[in-house]
Amino acid sequence: MSQLLEVKGLKKSFDVTRGLIKRKKQYLHAVNDVSFSVQKGEVLGIVGESGCGKSTLGNLIIQLLEPTEGEIIFDGVDLRKLPPEQLRKKREDIQMVFQDPFSSLNPRKRVFDIIAEPLKTHGSYNKVELEHEVLQLMDVVGLNRSYLNRYPHEFSGGQRQRIGIARAIALKPKLIICDEPVSALDVSIQSQILNLLKKLQKELQLTYIFIAHGLPAVKHVSDRIAVMYLGKIVELTTKENLFTNPMHPYTEGLLSAIPIPDPTARKDERRLLEGDIPNPVNPPTGCAFHTRCPYKTELCERVEPEFTEKRDGHFTACHHPLKEGKGIISQHEKY
Ligand SMILES: Nc1ncnc2c1ncn2[C@@H]1O[C@H](COP(=O)(O)OP(=O)(O)OP(=O)(O)O)[C@@H](O)[C@H]1O
Ligand code: SF4
Ligand SMILES: [Mg+2]
Repeated sequence: MSQLLEVKGLKKSFDVTRGLIKRKKQYLHAVNDVSFSVQKGEVLGIVGESGCGKSTLGNLIIQLLEPTEGEIIFDGVDLRKLPPEQLRKKREDIQMVFQDPFSSLNPRKRVFDIIAEPLKTHGSYNKVELEHEVLQLMDVVGLNRSYLNRYPHEFSGGQRQRIGIARAIALKPKLIICDEPVSALDVSIQSQILNLLKKLQKELQLTYIFIAHGLPAVKHVSDRIAVMYLGKIVELTTKENLFTNPMHPYTEGLLSAIPIPDPTARKDERRLLEGDIPNPVNPPTGCAFHTRCPYKTELCERVEPEFTEKRDGHFTACHHPLKEGKGIISQHEKY
């Protein structure tokens, strides 16, 4: 596999200074020195609690937000160094599937216009070709062709997400960022949309960054998983490693929150995450997780741990990484 995306030292700080009186500026470091790469054809899951910076990271990669610092090397070029016209062209290769299929589709446009829009803007199709393309896309995502002239409000959440997915794949992008694509949907249809995304990824050889709150949502789709906490990636490894041999105590907490069918078969001690997420404007000193970590030492409060490769391809930022076998399943079990 060759590399499709490399993110180096990416930062995004929001100025959150309140009031009109001049005082010391306050910044919220939503994405704080994040580095990782994604291989062609890979699915990288990104998980973490609300506010940890997942959407900001996605929006930076797709250029909806301007980074404060860092590099985004996509398909061999640093997107931040491209002139606007070339960037516009490159941007076609990165698409997004949004969390909320109710607000992400224009209510005044018909399905045909919604799916055709990127094709009209970036392609050169005549009327017949355009309709043919749109109908094909509707087939691919499992939407009945007779819905072509309907409006978004006439569809269920799952069907709307199918429209969003058709739009995202219309230009045959190289990378799709799925930002919690099923969390706004009824549980009963979440797996249908997940299966569709997985099927499309295989058939169209797509690369995904797949964002979710918790590990169960990324478990079936991801090859590797990055765990975020307060704007930083704290652990990154293969799905298998993460579920069997997590190294970061925060990952252990996320794993402990997953109910399993036979609780007596749990391999881990159930250590549910305690405490609240600290204020991101004023994060804790040293390791930002120390206020909630059952293993913290005096060193953790003082010195920020570096994000380094501790085992082969297994990265974490922790002074006292967990021993092997702390996951919820053993290496032999399937998931
Ligand atoms: N435009 C903005 N101005 C100020 N702060 C912002 C802005 N956008 C995001 N933030 C803050 O940045 C942090 C990261 O937000 P982000 O939306 O990326 O988190 P998230 O992990 O996607 O959360 P969720 O799981 O709730 O979607 C949060 O503390 C959020 O309040
Ligand atoms: S560095 Fe210390 S506080 Fe942070 S996760 Fe590791 S053990 Fe816990
Ligand atoms: Mg989000």
